[in-house]
Amino acid sequence: MLSLVLLLCLVSTSLSQEVLQNGDMESVTSGIPTGWGCNKCVSSATNMSHSGQSALLPSGRTARWQGPSHKIDVEPGKFYKASLWVRLVNDVSGEMFQSAKIVINVGLLDGTKTRLTVARDRRIRVEDGWIQMKGDFTVPSNAKTTAKITVNDFLPGVDFLVDDVSVQQLVEWTTWRQDTDVSITSLRTSKINVNVTLPDNIDRSDVRVVILQKKKSYPFGMAINSDEYTQGEPKYRDFVNQHFNWAVTKNSLKWKIMERKQGERNYDRAFIPINTLKSHGIKVRGHNIVWGTTDQHVPDWVKPLYGDDLRQAVTTRVTDIVSKTRDMVEHWDVNNEILHGYFFEKRVNNANYSLDIFSLAHQTAPNVKMFLNDYNVLSKSYSTGAYVTQALQFQAAGVGLYGIGAQCHFNDGTIPSPTILKARLDTLAEVGLPIWVTELSIVSDNYTKLADMFETVLRVLYAHPAVEGIMFWGFWGPIHGYGEQAALVSGPEFTINAAGERVLDLFENQWMTRKYRKLSLFGDQFSVDGFHGDYLVKVTYQGQELVDKRTTFTLGSSPHTVTLSVP
Ligand SMILES: *[C@@H]1O[C@H](CO)[C@@H](O)[C@H](O)[C@H]1NC(C)=O
Ligand SMILES: *[C@@H]1O[C@H](CO)[C@@H](O)[C@H](O)[C@H]1NC(C)=O
Ligand SMILES: *[C@@H]1O[C@H](CO)[C@@H](O)[C@H](O)[C@H]1NC(C)=O
Repeated sequence: MLSLVLLLCLVSTSLSQEVLQNGDMESVTSGIPTGWGCNKCVSSATNMSHSGQSALLPSGRTARWQGPSHKIDVEPGKFYKASLWVRLVNDVSGEMFQSAKIVINVGLLDGTKTRLTVARDRRIRVEDGWIQMKGDFTVPSNAKTTAKITVNDFLPGVDFLVDDVSVQQLVEWTTWRQDTDVSITSLRTSKINVNVTLPDNIDRSDVRVVILQKKKSYPFGMAINSDEYTQGEPKYRDFVNQHFNWAVTKNSLKWKIMERKQGERNYDRAFIPINTLKSHGIKVRGHNIVWGTTDQHVPDWVKPLYGDDLRQAVTTRVTDIVSKTRDMVEHWDVNNEILHGYFFEKRVNNANYSLDIFSLAHQTAPNVKMFLNDYNVLSKSYSTGAYVTQALQFQAAGVGLYGIGAQCHFNDGTIPSPTILKARLDTLAEVGLPIWVTELSIVSDNYTKLADMFETVLRVLYAHPAVEGIMFWGFWGPIHGYGEQAALVSGPEFTINAAGERVLDLFENQWMTRKYRKLSLFGDQFSVDGFHGDYLVKVTYQGQELVDKRTTFTLGSSPHTVTLSVP
């Protein structure tokens, strides 16, 4: 029994590596959770706990940066994840939502300090009850080994509770390359079993089976500039049609672009390219129905609207565009980036208004899959946890949320390590809904580096079981939102650069199946791992194709058997 307990202890320490003492607030000294301070405020223990007997209640805060804090030991250069539960007890009148942050303060060897924002949630309400905040941080390599975790950003004057705080070192994922290969094979391929029957007197070296994947079914998509696609550089249109099976219009479906004047809607600009895409077998995501982080993304005529006038305008927009595109788009990004702002909620004075918009979109076209779409979720740590909270709320409200759109703009010249990227994906996947990478872009000053960055990111994404599709946010330098530094195809000459070559090699060679099998080498029955998609199988005998033996099939998630008799 003792050895079992010892063993369990050993196993759990090697898995969790908790670095925070008394994160559960259960140890209390003189009315204060042991080890917890408060930056120019007072931390007290309270029995209004998330779990166990006690939680932490700060008081006397007079500035947003003040809040409960605790020292932690950290190792320079290492990755950590942090999480905690927080509950807003009272509101400040006039504020619809409160914002909270998890911050890590680290001293550097040169005597300066740096502050890392681990998580930020801007949409906290009293009625949410306990919510979990989570995120990750990387300790700078020139840091000292002690740091401090703080919960702050709430307005002074609100009361909040903190409980079950955890900081754990993330075990570095050193074998990510091999592991992603294994996961990609297990998730994205199935067995193709080939069974050839033939008389004994035929020489097996004369018989060859050719297995050719003609189309992939995993969604790899591209955002298009509608005008360029419809009437611009023909190579632009051809590149999209040739290399991608999904697409999204970058701007032309947006409310602000489509309906500059109330009631005068330019549908053609979006619908013409969408219909062309569909005629090429390319599926389309709709982006986006409304976008209200601030008033800058709504049409000018919407900016002055309040209350019922705004509701009416939004209802008309949602029902009009969603019903008109019902048979054109597979997905809609419903209310873009609502983690980061709430124009509509404030103007109609209803903190739940995004749920109403979502539900209306879903009811207008129940067969179209409806998404949230937001940023700093995989590219940065700030919003990963807040997105989980939001998605869980949408899911619980039953408004028809199908999936989570994660934008993925890696636009500061770096990408997260595979360890971090996978940790963020795992966090998002806790919601239990499909994840779509909706707007992948990466910036680098060097196309060789850009190629490596794309490969790393694509491998980790494609190897993750919750990631159901991956959409790029542009490819051609001259019109790319992030410029030539983010391009797969460069300049007016339309040159596929090193990053473009790498991406196409992954999509069309490494992650497509083409096999040539001589029976003398592989036997009359053999199997291959085939990437999911549409196949053509051919047989040649003495160098001539036996044309009547051609067979086609679609390979999905179960094995497929091809039976052939030769000659
Ligand atoms: C191959 O196909 C033949 C003829 O249909 C069948 O009798 C045999 O059992 C199959 N063999 C395997 C290994 O599937
Ligand atoms: C907001 O929506 C949630 C989930 O449907 C519900 O529990 C809550 O009561 C609503 N709040 C208001 C103020 O309507
Ligand atoms: C681009 O990056 C590669 C790989 O890191 C490096 O070998 C090469 O020298 C760089 N090229 C330029 C022009 O900096």
